[in-house]
Amino acid sequence: MKCFKNVSKMYKLRLIRKKIMKILLITDTQFGMCDDNLSSKKWSKIAKSWSLPSSGIEKEKQNLKYFIDYTNKENPDLVIHCGDIVNRINNNIPLNEYMNLIKSLNPIPIYHVPGNHDVGSDPNIASYSGLDFYRSNFGKDYYSFKKEGSQFIFLNSSLFINYRKLKSEFEAQNKFLKEILIDLNRDTNILIFLHHPPYINENDLSESQSEYLLGDKPIDYWIFPEEIIKDFFNLVKPFKNSVIYSGHLHSNLITSYKGIKIVVTSSLGLPLGEDNSGFRILEIDKKNIKDNFVEVPD
Ligand SMILES: [Fe+2]
Repeated sequence: MKCFKNVSKMYKLRLIRKKIMKILLITDTQFGMCDDNLSSKKWSKIAKSWSLPSSGIEKEKQNLKYFIDYTNKENPDLVIHCGDIVNRINNNIPLNEYMNLIKSLNPIPIYHVPGNHDVGSDPNIASYSGLDFYRSNFGKDYYSFKKEGSQFIFLNSSLFINYRKLKSEFEAQNKFLKEILIDLNRDTNILIFLHHPPYINENDLSESQSEYLLGDKPIDYWIFPEEIIKDFFNLVKPFKNSVIYSGHLHSNLITSYKGIKIVVTSSLGLPLGEDNSGFRILEIDKKNIKDNFVEVPD
């Protein structure tokens, strides 16, 4: 144990000396998803294996506890949650469970963005009351800061998905994004964190991903509407080193849009594809952005 502690200390010192920032990323904790999907034909097998003999939320809690213990040992600079924190905004029990557990990360800061399940009682449609729910529990749904020369941008992807219905909110977020990017040096690392991947190249999906993602849903359930994809990427394109991190698919995927890398991370909660539940470790210095997926043991 002592030996591990020393290795971890030496590793941390190496990161500090090399000015490497370490970030842990989780997504789709989605507390309550198991219980809510027990009767679903599509997901009942996995949900049942997670739910029995105790309630489904126990496994969701167990995975978050594993992550919190891991994080407290690793002591990263910060933690990011890419959304779908809970499955249903009108069920207080999973939300309270999440809030109680996540406190134990303190003093390591955690930054959230909302998923589609966090901003609407119907996860397919974001609503003003859903935005109120998110903002009153987690604060701003889009914001940004600069750290060690990298610009961190957190976005509410549901405003892109619902851009017609929530027009003024969508426009306000777009204005915010443009204002941040306009004055930035083109050499700045740009890291965007949001829930939906803005774009997926269907050729990058594995066979099983194509099956479960596109079997009964069109591709636009998972990504931005076609008519706004180009405008979004045009804002990011001038920067040499930019990566977009998302969740939503409950499996891992690396894809790109005209050379801009998009990294999708599997869920810390219920997985839907071949990948296990897990989280991602990011190491960032002035020139490089590296990341690596870590599985949570069964
Ligand atoms: Fe989602």
